[in-house]
Amino acid sequence: MSNEKEQWGSRFGLILAVAGNAVGLGNFLRFPVQAASNGGGAFMIPYFIAFLLLGIPLMWVEWGIGRHGGKYGHGSAPGMFDVLWNNPVAKYMGVMGLLISMVILIYYTYIESWTLGYSIFSITGLYQGEESLEAMSGFLSSYQGLESGTHFTSMWPAYGLMLFTFLVNFFVLWRGLSGGIEKLAKFAMPMLFIFAVILLIRVFTLGTPDPSQPENSIASGLAYIWEPNLSELSKASVWIAAAGQIFFTLSVGMGTIHAYASYLRPKDDIALSGLTTAATNEFVEVVLGGSIAIPVAVAFFGLDMTKEIASGGAFNLGFVSMPVIFGKIPLGQVFGMLWFLLLFVAGITSSVAMGQPVVAFFKNQFGMTHKRAVLALAALVIICVQPVVFFLGHGFLDEMDYWSGTFGLVVFATIEIILFAWVFKIDRAWGEINSGSDIRIPVFFKYVIKYVTPLYLLIIMGVWFYQDAWDILMLNKTPTGQPVNDADVPYIWGARALMVGLFALLAFLVHIAWKRKRKLGIEDTSLKKAKQAPAGS
Ligand code: PHE
Repeated sequence: MSNEKEQWGSRFGLILAVAGNAVGLGNFLRFPVQAASNGGGAFMIPYFIAFLLLGIPLMWVEWGIGRHGGKYGHGSAPGMFDVLWNNPVAKYMGVMGLLISMVILIYYTYIESWTLGYSIFSITGLYQGEESLEAMSGFLSSYQGLESGTHFTSMWPAYGLMLFTFLVNFFVLWRGLSGGIEKLAKFAMPMLFIFAVILLIRVFTLGTPDPSQPENSIASGLAYIWEPNLSELSKASVWIAAAGQIFFTLSVGMGTIHAYASYLRPKDDIALSGLTTAATNEFVEVVLGGSIAIPVAVAFFGLDMTKEIASGGAFNLGFVSMPVIFGKIPLGQVFGMLWFLLLFVAGITSSVAMGQPVVAFFKNQFGMTHKRAVLALAALVIICVQPVVFFLGHGFLDEMDYWSGTFGLVVFATIEIILFAWVFKIDRAWGEINSGSDIRIPVFFKYVIKYVTPLYLLIIMGVWFYQDAWDILMLNKTPTGQPVNDADVPYIWGARALMVGLFALLAFLVHIAWKRKRKLGIEDTSLKKAKQAPAGS
């Protein structure tokens, strides 16, 4: 069980890879929808507070846990938690760090494949002529196989693109850390940046598309997000949504940052690298992500309509309103292709990250070769993605996204920060984060990590459970807030069974792996002793 064969090629490459991990569909699709449906300027205040008190501290905590676990040859959460807490339960807590990233990988791959499909539909002009939001929404549903439309009479295009996207992802994973993930990031991240800047210039030169409606302009769209608005701050739901977005967009609370950080050397900096990647993600999210989908929707459809579009579903702004607008502007086919390719590129550098914890787990804990580990994960993913594709209309994907991609992140983050700051103890944790660091983190954050972040997380988890999760669990509403359709109930339970089943499988594998290691005597006394040694020494 050692990590020594794989290493990041360079620090720059590592930072790009972690930034690529964080920058994803969340920045360009999820953020605008969350901001627009939670009050725009009212959303941004809790959003920045969550970034400061949850996002940045958790980023450091995860880099710290990851690099620390890496010293003992662990590339995934079960082993890392076992090192932090010498208790048999710890490794099972780490199972969540495998499960969450894997479940997200399963449904994210499918969504990512739509972006590729839509970039092809854009340049070939397939959706040209669908001029209204309803028509475009029908186009999307027929592509997804939810209703039969004129353009798609079967699900095969969607299925084929999913397969292709799946293969591309696993090809990158197959190529390994520096030869696959890092190489991809080095070319994808600059490309993403260029696409985004081109689109931004196009957006800013749109002005007021319909002079008879001067209030519908890019400027009013930007004002909606950027004018601080205190009126909705008393709504708990806005705070929760903001925290949820910070988690998802920074990829914290899921085990992927740990996996990337585990390949660092013990004296490599994490303080500055963690901060740089978090800041890069926020730049891409609020500056680039915030300046495209919302302002153009406001300019073309008006503010009220934009809020309505956003509250109608996570994909409406990106896959419905944007294509309608591309149909209205000169060279719309080209800009449409750029927009969807931008999403695809952002998506793929994230989805490969979601595969890494499980690959590392198979390699480190079972001694599998890299290729075998990748194939084993690929087999699991391709099986589990089937119901996501075919039962999309029954809320299968939404259910997975809610429990793993939304609620699960907070639960996992709460566990890890308590383990790190309280069980492993804050002084060692702080020493670990600062060891080898290129900047001095203000001591303020030591207290934030010890008290504020865990408390914040516990409150969010409690309020969330009370306000939302309980009702969703009991089928009183869907994750999108709609009443549950009776016909969907078996599918919702199916999605839950799948997640519970995967959890059980992974927990069982952890059990076997540790038993096997005990037998082989791998966990020898030197490791035990090393576990007790103070961090950073
Ligand atoms: N942060 C990514 C995004 O914004 C999503 C992601 C989730 C990445 C889980 C890695 C792991 O889209």
